[in-house]
Parts: sequence; structure tokens; C-alpha cells
Amino acid sequence: MKPAIVVLPGDGIGPEVVAAACSVLEMALAKAEAGVELLHRPIGLEALQKVGRSIPQETHEAIARADGVLLGPVTSHIYDIFDPISANPSAYMRKTFDLYANVRPARSREGVPALSHEVDLVVMRENTEGFYADRNLLDGNGELRPNEDTVLSVRLITRKACLRIARAGFELARARGGKRRVSLVHKANVLRRGDGLFLDCCREVARDFPEIAVNDFHIDAAAMHLVMRPAEFDVIVTTNMYGDILSDEAAGLVGGLGLAPGLNAGDKLAMAQAVHGSAPDIAGKGIANPAAEILSAAMLLEWLGHRRGEAALCRAGRAMDAAVDRTLAKAQTLTPDLGGKSSTQEFAAAVARNLEVGHG
Ligand code: NAI
Ligand code: MG
Repeated sequence: MKPAIVVLPGDGIGPEVVAAACSVLEMALAKAEAGVELLHRPIGLEALQKVGRSIPQETHEAIARADGVLLGPVTSHIYDIFDPISANPSAYMRKTFDLYANVRPARSREGVPALSHEVDLVVMRENTEGFYADRNLLDGNGELRPNEDTVLSVRLITRKACLRIARAGFELARARGGKRRVSLVHKANVLRRGDGLFLDCCREVARDFPEIAVNDFHIDAAAMHLVMRPAEFDVIVTTNMYGDILSDEAAGLVGGLGLAPGLNAGDKLAMAQAVHGSAPDIAGKGIANPAAEILSAAMLLEWLGHRRGEAALCRAGRAMDAAVDRTLAKAQTLTPDLGGKSSTQEFAAAVARNLEVGHG
């Protein structure tokens, strides 16, 4: 049976970049002769307006049956003014479907105006707990307000989550076969118990990967090293909020959020989702850079291909990534965030034209 991907456009620039990603995805699949069923479903504000829920039951059920999800950004803070059932779709999906590994690569690409041209790293961010803990466990998004003037923002760290994100990070460093280095990012000098447990778990997992070098940094020092010596990083393994922050910083080094892809992976399901948000400042103008969403979709195809043992899906995913590289390198069709004048659709059309899918 063909794998099914549920397509969820999201808010702000979401529908624009997701449509662009779908057009490239469909072309890559056709060229690779790989079959995927795309199921378009409403989510976010569109769904809230139509059926009063940010994640309609029917959308939830489609995801539960699917093999993958392609999600656009959502305007998170809006959902806080509704009742808890109108959850922030992004957080809901990560927690409900246990998409515990947020894989966020940052790579220098030719032709892109960037602060550094020697970056090739991946942030492996724990995606289900930390400061963004379970709404059901605590009041709101992991926060307690015992009285009007006091708020406790509680950070949840469990052995299970630390062990599995560490393993995902070391396996990725092994599979990448590059610098073979895992950098653990924490603040164990202050958050001794939480980040202490995180470090203990990572070091336990490290013993199974003797060929991978391990170093560790406090989050503040990591933020500096990333700017000054980005080429030294390979895979960064870290907890939820540190990973959220460092992945935007890494994106900033290689040309900005318009080029930063991400995959939220669990054991059975993965969700492609760019690092960027719904960018209300440029929404509806047709100028958002769709590269991040296209590259996220490419990551999903590769994940699906490996999981199902279908080489054609991997070929389609790799071809999409290479086509983005080719389009950027020619630098004729860049969106305004990269100094160009092209529209979202023009960039996506150029990527589709640059698709070269190998065989075998
Ligand atoms: P943002 O990522 O939406 O925007 C930050 C800046 O980057 C803006 O100047 C924006 O125009 C620019 N930018 C982002 N994506 C771009 C693209 N593809 N092409 C060109 N320029 C791009 O972050 P911000 O402003 O902090 O958040 C806006 C909303 O998005 C908030 O409601 C936030 O909670 C939500 N958000 C959602 C995320 C998700 O669904 N994955 C992730 C981050 C934020
Ligand atoms: Mg973020």
C-alpha cells in the first residue's frame, strides 16, 4: 500500500509555503516513480473557524492512520485564548503522537548570503518535555500560577526521554559519518538535577557508540561557540528549549529561517515542519521563502524511505534537497529574505525545474 502523508497548511505564511512544498514533492515523487497519497486536511485557525476546533477529530484520525505529516507553521499564541481543546496544533501533534526527536539541520549552501560558509550540523532537540511540558500534567504550557503575582515555569526531565533523544543523536552522528561528534548542550552547573540526569543518560548511551567523540557545553557557552567556531559542530543533542533557541541561531548562521528545515520523528510517525513560525509580518504577500518547508518535506520522504525500505522515496527526498541547492547556487530566483525579488511560487517552480532524480 502507498504511504499516506497528511498535509496541514497552518496559519500565516503556512498555506503559501505548504502549497509550494507540495508542488515540488509531487514532481519529485513522479520523477522517482514513488507513490505517496497526499491527504489535505484543515488545521489551526482555518479549522477553528470552520468547526470550532484547531485540530478537528477527522484531522486527528487521518494523522493516526497516516505514515507522515507535512505541517505548515501555526500562530501558537492565538490558541491560548481559547479553551484547552483548541490546543496549539504543533505542540498537540508532538505530544499526542510522541514525536520525540526534533531533527533540525543547518548547512551552508552555495549562493546564499550568510554569516558562515562552513556550517554542517544538526540540532537533535528533545521534543516532548523540558519547559514545554504536558498541558495535562500542569496548568497551561507547563506553568503554575499559585497566586496573581507568582508563576512557576516547571521543567520536566525524565530518564526515558533523555535516553531516547541521546540514542537518536548518536545514531544520527553514526549515520552521517562526517565529523562523528556529539555535543551535549546543558546547564548542569545550575540545573543540577534536571540537566544532571540529562548528562548521565547521554553518557550512558555514548558507551554504545565508541567511535563517536563526545563533548559538552553549557548552553550559554554553546551559543558563543556556535557563532565563533560553527564548523566544529556535528550533532548537538539537547533538551527542548535549548534546542529551540540553538536551532534558530544555527539557521541565522546559514542564511536565516527561510532555509531551516525540521522533522519531528517518533518511532511510527514523522512530521515535517520548518523551524520558522507563521511570519505574520509577511503573510499573504507571496514572498515567503518556501525552501525550509520544501527541505522539511524532503526529510520526511527520506525518513519514510528508510523506514519502509523504499529506495525510490529516499531518492525523491535527496533530489528535492539537491534541487534547492541548485536553485540557490544559480541565485537567479531568490526570495526577498535572501536579497532576491522572486515570489514563493517562482522559487518553488525553479526548484521543481531543477529536480534531477537518479535511478537505482
Ligand atoms: P517567525 O519564524 O514566524 O518569524 C521571525 C522572522 O523571520 C520574521 O521576520 C519573518 O518574516 C521571518 N521569516 C520566517 N519564516 C520565513 C520564511 N519562510 N521566509 C522569509 N522570512 C521568514 O517567528 P515569530 O515572529 O517569533 O512567530 C510568529 C508566530 O509563529 C507566533 O505565533 C509563534 O508562536 C509562531 N511560531 C510557530 C512555529 C511553528 O508552528 N513551528 C515556530 C515558531 C513560531
Ligand atoms: Mg522555535
